[in-house]
Amino acid sequence: MQKYIIEPIEELNGEIEVDGAKNGILPIMAATLLSTEPCIIHKVPSLKDVGVMVEIIRHIGANVDRAKSSMTVNVPKIKNSEAPYDYVSQMRSSFDVMGPLLARTGLARVPLPGGCAIGERPIDLHLKGFKALGASVEFGHGFVQAKADKLVGANIYLDFPSVGATKNIMMAATLAEGVTVIENAAKEPEIVDLAIFLSKMGAKISGSGTDTIRITGVKELKGCEHATLPDRIEAGTFLIMAAMNKSNLLIKNIVPSHLKPVIAKLIEAGVNIKEEEDGLRVISDGKIKPVDITTLPYPGFPTDLQAPFMALLCLADGSSTVLETVFESRFSHISELNRMGAKIKIEGHSAVITGPCQLQSADVKATDLRAGAALVLASLVAQGATTIHDIYHIDRGYNGLETKLRNLGVHITRV
Ligand code: EPZ
Repeated sequence: MQKYIIEPIEELNGEIEVDGAKNGILPIMAATLLSTEPCIIHKVPSLKDVGVMVEIIRHIGANVDRAKSSMTVNVPKIKNSEAPYDYVSQMRSSFDVMGPLLARTGLARVPLPGGCAIGERPIDLHLKGFKALGASVEFGHGFVQAKADKLVGANIYLDFPSVGATKNIMMAATLAEGVTVIENAAKEPEIVDLAIFLSKMGAKISGSGTDTIRITGVKELKGCEHATLPDRIEAGTFLIMAAMNKSNLLIKNIVPSHLKPVIAKLIEAGVNIKEEEDGLRVISDGKIKPVDITTLPYPGFPTDLQAPFMALLCLADGSSTVLETVFESRFSHISELNRMGAKIKIEGHSAVITGPCQLQSADVKATDLRAGAALVLASLVAQGATTIHDIYHIDRGYNGLETKLRNLGVHITRV
């Protein structure tokens, strides 16, 4: 098990660049299964989760070539309609292959992804969609299987705007007969990017980015070329990191409109954020005012930045409240932040953070990806060198984090 040792830094000055989005590239890689022709994807982040998805689609029949930050995927034939347990158990978004497999071959068998550190994470809405399109769904021996002679377009209302269900149903519907309408669809930028990719492949999709997505099925999809959108969660992590320190930091390859609630809350907390031609500049004296946040589906405050933002609120001059409404148990970072001297109490789905506090170094554990990011941010302002264990979680979602931090003068060692 690898760990980070991170020393605090006096000031964060310079610039840092955001990579392609993890949550954007993964469904796009799954979508390549829909065509017999090659797809070329650029700005592919070099992440552990991308490596896992490569193995899954290779097992299914894809030829994958990677060169620098580009990837060519060609799936002339589906050799296997089953995703392997060893990989699916490592990454829930492997479930993204279910819709494309079902659409292309009429059969998809994927191990049940199960719960994880942030909640139970059921798949009922994905399956509701597949059934509405005419598939039969069965469970057995730890697998979920969807089967259909043909898929037929349908009206599907999602009880919650699930990102995963919206992606899976959208991909399955591209090759269905007739029109599918997804109501109460997720509106995340990664959904819009997937719709753009599918449209380049020849799919007929309108309304992505709104709560009603309409897909008119086509007979087949072709190959295409696409560049992954910038990772808004990595960008948000850097915004928060700069806010917590004395800093003058330019964050490049960022789409400010994808981060409106985060920018608004940082400004409310007293941070100075300026839009420049090639990015967002954060100027902070590290003094933070208390603010309350509530996580919501996009365009609300992203649950993926709840843990990093809580690290920031530990420094605030007063009491702040964080309400988590997207996942039922995404608070595992709290006990670790408290080990570093934070004063955070859980009250149901809320956390009350009493600041200001001087965080102190400790041995702490990254319990999931964003919890790990929160601990990295906390380490930079803690007294003494912090050791973060189980950093494989962080490797799932932050491309070249050590190099990026070292370029800003941070002393960070991987052991
Ligand atoms: C995506 O997960 C992201 N993952 C998550 O990123 C992100 O936290 C989440 O969306 C919310 O923004 C990827 O894109 C790969 P959901 P996903 O389906 O698709 C419930 C990160 O750190 N639900 O929108 O799994 C579910 O239990 C991560 O990068 C059902 O009840 O999210 C949860 O409470 C982790 N039934 C809520 O909806 C279903 O069938 C949101 O889940 C599906 C979901």
